[in-house]
Amino acid sequence: MSPPSIAQLPSESTTTPTVKAKSPLKSSQQHPNQKHTFPTNANTLDYARSLDTNCPLRHLRNEYIIPSKANLKVKHANDLSTPNDSSDPAIYFCGNSLGLQPKCTASYITAQLNTWSHLNVHGHFRPIADSPLKPWQELCEQASDLSAPIVGALPSEVSMQATLTVNLHLLMASFYRPVGKKCKILMESHAFPSDHYAVESQVQLHGYKAEEAMILLEPVDGEHVLSTEQICKAIDENVDEIALVLLPGIQYYTGQLLDIKTITAHARSKGLTIGWDLAHAAGNVPLYLHDWDVDFAAWCTYKYMNSGPGGMGGLFVHERHGKVTKDENTGKLDFRHRLTGWYAGDRTSRFNMDNKFVPIEGAKGFQVSNPSAIDLTSLIASLSVFAETSMEELRKKSLSITAYAEHLLLSDVPKVDGQPAYEIITPKDPEQRGAQLSVLFKKEGLLEKVGEGMEEAGVVADQRKPNVCRVAPAPMYNSYEEVWRIVGIIKGACDA
Ligand SMILES: Cc1ncc(COP(=O)(O)O)c(C=O)c1O
Repeated sequence: MSPPSIAQLPSESTTTPTVKAKSPLKSSQQHPNQKHTFPTNANTLDYARSLDTNCPLRHLRNEYIIPSKANLKVKHANDLSTPNDSSDPAIYFCGNSLGLQPKCTASYITAQLNTWSHLNVHGHFRPIADSPLKPWQELCEQASDLSAPIVGALPSEVSMQATLTVNLHLLMASFYRPVGKKCKILMESHAFPSDHYAVESQVQLHGYKAEEAMILLEPVDGEHVLSTEQICKAIDENVDEIALVLLPGIQYYTGQLLDIKTITAHARSKGLTIGWDLAHAAGNVPLYLHDWDVDFAAWCTYKYMNSGPGGMGGLFVHERHGKVTKDENTGKLDFRHRLTGWYAGDRTSRFNMDNKFVPIEGAKGFQVSNPSAIDLTSLIASLSVFAETSMEELRKKSLSITAYAEHLLLSDVPKVDGQPAYEIITPKDPEQRGAQLSVLFKKEGLLEKVGEGMEEAGVVADQRKPNVCRVAPAPMYNSYEEVWRIVGIIKGACDA
């Protein structure tokens, strides 16, 4: 999980070579794809409230526990006796780091604890009366079925298991098959550090040096984001040496949504394998992983999917890679190589204890261990709220509420030393971003000032050193009024 406060960008002093090219992205006041226009009174609280009143998803906010300002100040677990005071709610804009707790999570977990205390080991196979939860052996399936529509996959292509970086390792163990000089992994130079470390250790595991086997894409001078053209060009230029392309669906620092469909099609047309880290995309933007022909993907669920700290991760393996076939003559099974454990084995043979490994067809054949029933339960609780809507509906609100935040932030930008105090480094094109806007403060110390202003006002937002505040209105629970308030606080801190 990315903590809400201070964290460093991955070191730029890496010795690994970087690839630069021209970016076609140019900024203008309003992007032509921007469909939201705002009236002259858009900067008023009344207008923000009217957007909330007319929001078809406003009822979903009520499904979450909004922390109170008082409870944000609680420093010790012993002080937790004060209930959340809903008359004085905090403004929580950190769903891109850790999503809020759904109100139903506690009852789902209690149901699971009851299953454990009443049925004990039989809970693996027996359902408990009136519980929304399946027996433990079927929980991964239950969570995967509910997750599949969120990432645009067949249920068999999804396995909710382990955690993001662990799943990336499991997937790379299967999909990164370097041979001779075709050994390189193409990724971004500012990848989330965990991805960078995971790739580094994978290439080293195969006997390569990181600086030989990692191609790190760097935005061109003056740009913050990578363009699709730049990525495709880098693929073309290095195609004979690339064994794997690994990219983020949404870049964690800039909030850029990459064109997953186009980049995947391009990589695959060159015969390359491509995987995606969807940490900031899953539950944030609609995804169509099956139709886009993505080879594999992994994501965490504690951000926009609200499963709780360190919640169960997810992985996608396209159905063409998950097949298990049997030779009729020899009886020998044929399936993609992977790192295995008994939970990749078919439920009907898992308990035979005969060392005859029969993987489950599809993504669930990439499991290793007995998963945490409590983590799966927390995820299933959260997914039950997603089941009340669709990613397409959430995206509609997301486009609108993020456009509103952008509009407010960019009207009358406060000046510091005669210059605009900040700029938004997230692409202006709504098709190239999710919920998050990354606001880059131009003057040293301003981020800290804004952070103090936010803390004072009971706002939780995410600051990334050296100078970015990530403003991420989560369409599930954030309101237009909250956007109005947080922008006022940011501008007030800059003016001060
Ligand atoms: C883009 C990205 N990749 C990887 C991770 C690491 O996730 P985990 O600690 O669940 O493996 C994070 C965590 O925030 C992330 O944002």
